[in-house]
Amino acid sequence: MQMPAVELHVHLEGTLEPEMILALAERNRVELPYADLDDLRSRYSFVDLQSFLDLYYANMAVLRTAEDFHDLTTAYLLRARDAGVRHAEVFLDVQAHTGRGIPAAEVVDGVTSALARSGEHGLTSGLIVTFLRHLPGADALATLRELLALDAPLLGVGLCSTELTSHASEFAPAFDLARASGLHVVAHAGEEGPPQNVVDALDILHVERVDHGVRAMEDPALVARLARDRVPLTVCPLSNVRLRVVDTLADHPLRAMLDAGLVVTVNSDDPAYFGGYLDENLRQVAQTLDLGPDELHTLARNGVEAAFVDDARRAELG
Ligand code: HPA
Ligand code: ZN
Repeated sequence: MQMPAVELHVHLEGTLEPEMILALAERNRVELPYADLDDLRSRYSFVDLQSFLDLYYANMAVLRTAEDFHDLTTAYLLRARDAGVRHAEVFLDVQAHTGRGIPAAEVVDGVTSALARSGEHGLTSGLIVTFLRHLPGADALATLRELLALDAPLLGVGLCSTELTSHASEFAPAFDLARASGLHVVAHAGEEGPPQNVVDALDILHVERVDHGVRAMEDPALVARLARDRVPLTVCPLSNVRLRVVDTLADHPLRAMLDAGLVVTVNSDDPAYFGGYLDENLRQVAQTLDLGPDELHTLARNGVEAAFVDDARRAELG
């Protein structure tokens, strides 16, 4: 059976495992407000996106040097390989680090030096810098300008963090510059925010893929548009359960999305926080939603179609 082997929605900082948080805290002499590993783990219970983001950003305090970012990225690549991933497009929240005084070059050098060795682990990869939606659009634009000046090897840009406090139009200048610079563009939308956020991502930011997008299912006209235009949606089932986008995995709309002809893919989002990497997401949705070989094959094909790769690599992955 062909299993999905492309991961298109994973935040590198969301692969920071509790053990690595403690190890990096020691290496960098960062004081953490946790007594031990059990105490840290006890905080991994979320009521919504923001309650997760608070812990996610706080834990980034241990990431300080290029070596830390390199080690984080390598650990993800090895774990992804073990999950059967052959191509990964990873998100990096550069502003979450520059905002703490870590130079963008340090962050990007650490990540890209590790990604450059993906082939040694049997994968191809690309880097997508995700702008933080709770910060001003001008900050996103300044960050992109800095990364372009550094000649950072980027595949694309994205948009994440809370959907509830800003409008997509704030980020249009950064997305316009990204597209003019030949970068791919994606955005989180329709996770905690309404279907209109998906429409805005398409019409204002001109995204090529929508990250999450599950709430698009509330708007039949939008579903028809996404299906007609074959806009991929990078769905993250275990994330949606842990952040209460759905009540239980059995309530997840993944099967309905497939049935509606949407180009959906399965991804892990922040696997260190949400209980599983790509393999675990696939195992649990297949079991709970009773997905058979046909549906898994479609998910695999969708991932290959949605990946930002050249024709030769697409043919290899397919
Ligand atoms: N949504 C928005 N922002 C994020 C997420 C998410 O699921 N994970 C990391 N940053
Ligand atoms: Zn995400």
